[in-house]
This record gives sequence, structure tokens and C-alpha cells, in this order.
Amino acid sequence: SKGGYQHFMIKEIYEQPNAIRETFEGNIEDPALIKAAEMISSSNRIFLTAAGTSYHASLVFSKILARRARLFSYPIISSEMSYVSSSLQSDDLVIAVSQSGETYDTLQAIREAKKMGAKIIAVTNVLGSAIVRESDFSLYTRAGPEIGVAATKTFLSQIMLLEMLSSFISYEIKTIDKDEKNNILNYLKYAPNLLQSSLEASDTLIPFLINFHKKNSSYILGRGLGSAIAMEGALKIKEITYLHAESYPAGESKHGPIALIEKDFPVYIVSTSDAYEIAGNAIEMAARNAKVIVVKPADLRLELKEDKRNIYFAEMPPSNNILELEPFILTPLFQILAYRLAVERGYNPDKPRNLAKTVTVE
Ligand code: F6R
Repeated sequence: SKGGYQHFMIKEIYEQPNAIRETFEGNIEDPALIKAAEMISSSNRIFLTAAGTSYHASLVFSKILARRARLFSYPIISSEMSYVSSSLQSDDLVIAVSQSGETYDTLQAIREAKKMGAKIIAVTNVLGSAIVRESDFSLYTRAGPEIGVAATKTFLSQIMLLEMLSSFISYEIKTIDKDEKNNILNYLKYAPNLLQSSLEASDTLIPFLINFHKKNSSYILGRGLGSAIAMEGALKIKEITYLHAESYPAGESKHGPIALIEKDFPVYIVSTSDAYEIAGNAIEMAARNAKVIVVKPADLRLELKEDKRNIYFAEMPPSNNILELEPFILTPLFQILAYRLAVERGYNPDKPRNLAKTVTVE
């Protein structure tokens, strides 16, 4: 049931602190994380394969893993796997991330990887799903069932689990020591509280943002970790509001997309602690009369030396420069904005047109 909420989507958005707490508590003592970390650190190359929102969670994982474990992983959109799978080898490992565990493209991707002899680890929310059955090993997000078509709580649960995994891998290969690992895990344990504050801060900003978002198109930009959060924000806006939203790494602005900027074009800048250079991108956009909104942890300092006209700030809870916390702090604003915009425009966010919860066709 919707438990008093108008739609499943908003219920599931508000359920997120609980969902990620379940993910943390359900996995922290489970030897599966240690086993997965051992499998990963004894493999040659790491590929990540997923579709849609799960792909964005994989991108977050890839950035965190590069930072903490100094390990490069290759994120491949599931439906693109067949164009590279001939390069896979038997000492490679593929992590398939899928909320449902049933997505056709992701299932095909792991079948092709298996043919090349690669090992497969599934990260899903559904016990006994097809992807689980065809993988060598599985981890579970334990977010509880998600009914809204737009993935929300399962996204942050995937990130929670993958960040836990990243700290286990980093410890396993000794790029962090026991204290650093425990530190990260302690921060993650605290993430549900931060996420709760972030939901509240986002709610407060919604009337301003609805007014801000007056054009049929918008950009959502970020660097580093922020580019993955931006991609997820743009997907949420597209799929349920039917407004165009485009994301790309902010540094690419000057290589073409900035040509579209006109007066009052909405530009969101997702500002993470791995990417302070982003201030320059905000200034470039504002100088061309875009309306810029910088979404950032309150304690992250951005040097905006020049004219701050047209630059607004969405201050979210502080992250203390802990990169792992920032997806929980910066994602909710876009989920709630997408939801409220959809409702405002008269659409049912639980049943976006042309989409199914689980895509089991090619
Ligand atoms: C977006 C959305 C889709 C799914 C994608 C993958 O809100 O729901 O983009 O994320 O179809 O689904 P799973 O994770 O079940 O493989």
C-alpha cells in the first residue's frame, strides 16, 4: 500500500533512509562481502555492467573504487557489452548490477561474459532472480520491494552496498588500513541520518526549484562523482516529467553544449568534494545568462570570485569531505524535483508512459 502517500514513488523516496539502513545492517556482518572482495581483488580486470539507474550506481562505484582502491574498473552499459565482450578473458570479472535481476540486456551481457570464461558477481534486490541464477556469486541490496517504475530507494541502496564493497576491496588489497576501513564504514552507518536531513532540505527548496525550472530543457552537470549523480538526476526528470534534461561531465560544456545556453536556461551543477574546479563551469554558464543552481554539501567551499548574478545555491547537509556520503546528500533533490514537477504537470509518476518496471525484451 501507499501508506498515506499519493504515489509509490514519493513513498519510496521518503523510505530511503530506512532502505539504506537495511542495506548496511543486512550486509555488514555477512561474509558475502568479504568473499566478493576476495574474488574481485584476485581478478585481472573488473567490468561493471548495468542499465539505466543501475548503470549510474555502477559509475558511482567506479569512481569510489578508483579513489579508495586505486583500481580502475570498466563500466559498460549492458546493451553495449556485446561490442566489447570478445576482449574479455577468463581472469576478468564482471559485476552485474540490476535492481530486478531480470533485465534482458544485463542478462545477455553476463551470458556473453560467461562464454569468454569471465566470473560474474550479481548485485541485485531480488533473491533468486534470473541474473542471480546465472551468476557465480551474489550480493543483495535488501532495500525491500520497489513498486514505482522510477528507481529511487534501490539506487541509493545499490550505492550503499557498492561503497561497502569498495571499502572491503580497498582493505583487501591494502590501499587502506583497518582504521580507514572502519572509518568509512562508520560514516556509512551514519548516512541514513544525513539522507533524512537531505530529504528535508530538498523539500524546503522545491517551491523555489519548480519556479526555477521553467524551460522545456535543462542541463545537469557534475565532475567526478558529481557527473554520475547528474546523470541519474537527468534520467529521473526525463522519465517522469517528459521534460528534456541532459547531463554530461561539466568540463565538456565548452566543447559544444554551451551553444544551447540562452537567457534563463536552467543549469544544475552537482558539486562534489572531488571536483572543486567546477566553480569555473558555473561562472561560464551564468555569464551567458543561464540560471545556475549549485547543489552542494553545505561545508563544501566553492570559490566564485566573479559576479555571482544568476548563481543560486541549494545547500545540502555537510559531507565532511567524505566522498562516500555525497550520493546520499545530493541525489534526493533531483528525485523530489522530478516527482513534484511530474505531479505539477498532471502526470502519474508511478506509471511513466512507454516504460515498464522490468525490461525483459531486447
Ligand atoms: C530508471 C529505471 C530504469 C532501470 C533499468 C535497469 O528509473 O527504473 O532505468 O534502472 O531498466 O533495471 P534493473 O536495475 O532492474 O536492471
